[in-house]
Amino acid sequence: MSKTTADKGFSTRAIHFGYNPAEHLGALVPPIYTSATFAFPDAAYGARCFAGEEAGYFYTRIANPTLALLESRLASLEQGAGAVVFGSGMGAISATLWSMLEPGDEVLADMTLYGCTFAFMTHGLARFGVTIRHVDMTDPGAVAQAMGPKTRVVYFESPANPNMRLVDIEAVSKIAHQGGAKVVVDNTYCTPYLQQPLLLGADVSVHSMTKYLGGHGDLTAGAAIFADFDLAQRVRLYGLKDMTGAVMSAQDAHLVMRGLKTLTLRMDRHCQSAQKVAELLQHHPITQVVHFPGLPSFAQHALAKRQMRQFGGMVAFELKGGLAAGVCFMDALQLVTRAVSLGDAETLAQHPASMTHSTYTPEERQAHGISDGLVRLSIGLEDIEDILADIAQALDQAQQMVAAGQNVPSRGSRVEFA
Ligand SMILES: Cc1ncc(COP(=O)(O)O)c(C=O)c1O
Repeated sequence: MSKTTADKGFSTRAIHFGYNPAEHLGALVPPIYTSATFAFPDAAYGARCFAGEEAGYFYTRIANPTLALLESRLASLEQGAGAVVFGSGMGAISATLWSMLEPGDEVLADMTLYGCTFAFMTHGLARFGVTIRHVDMTDPGAVAQAMGPKTRVVYFESPANPNMRLVDIEAVSKIAHQGGAKVVVDNTYCTPYLQQPLLLGADVSVHSMTKYLGGHGDLTAGAAIFADFDLAQRVRLYGLKDMTGAVMSAQDAHLVMRGLKTLTLRMDRHCQSAQKVAELLQHHPITQVVHFPGLPSFAQHALAKRQMRQFGGMVAFELKGGLAAGVCFMDALQLVTRAVSLGDAETLAQHPASMTHSTYTPEERQAHGISDGLVRLSIGLEDIEDILADIAQALDQAQQMVAAGQNVPSRGSRVEFA
């Protein structure tokens, strides 16, 4: 028996769901089961476990008590029928899609995807007889037109990494279901706190827990949360157990549960600070365009207000002066850290075309709306005055460079950006 918290608020469930200290010698923090294997009281019990007739634990790649607690907590937070956790976000995405697809099937994917998801589909699934077709899912009508008899999965991120385009989850889910396809949404940018895709009609919500859910940049992990428990079981017993083996460690599950305890506090702060950074960028003369759902000028601001609780902690932008100005901006940063990943306490800046999205060819990036001048910021938890001051001085330096007519970074020119 766990404390009954199923009817409690989001933060309460993020802290308590599924655990009762009274059943664990009073331990406030759930024990970490590091065991790879579990002893059978007798051989017949072991055989029943393998036959699926007994619910006991027998091998951690399939199930483990620490992972199971995290899974039940995630399912509660995103109102799913079940969840499976993995050793990385790519583990979650690949295991889920391997389990849902067969040769001859088609995936309809949005134009903009995280670079490794794009590579997994285009260079991975496509080699095994699965067709990948990209369509601009910001327009639900385009999805309706693109649906074909072999479309089994409709896949998108909202907001999309890195250019922040949104997809109307409810509208696209309806269209996909009418065509007999399932909908998989990458909810990494939002976390279950900011957006609940399953309640809007999606079938699966996938996460890189390396990001906000872990929240401290000290682990890699992934999760898939399912509207249908049978699909969760298929992904666990096939995608995870046999196809990818992308099992998460119990220590990392403990760290994610520690991160979940402060998720709502952290996300509130990330969102408030990102709004201020977006406004600063928008008003600086060197900025060409800012992509942030919380700006009234953002093309899908109304959709963001409808389907997101707040507007998130990620901001993307382009400077007048393009790539060279972006490089100058990044190299001028002093507090903000030049690094990929996102959702950490530290504010991070990166250049998608040469980093997270370098799995696309230049032509593919152009076709998929990822411009070479785009800079991506993950706004952290530092004092907002310090974040703003650092970004402002870096923008000023980029502006001076452009005004001086230079087209190379002022210092430390970085060939990998070419
Ligand atoms: C939107 C999104 N999905 C999935 C992933 C993959 O997650 P991981 O790095 O944990 O494998 C990432 C990683 O950056 C991401 O940004």
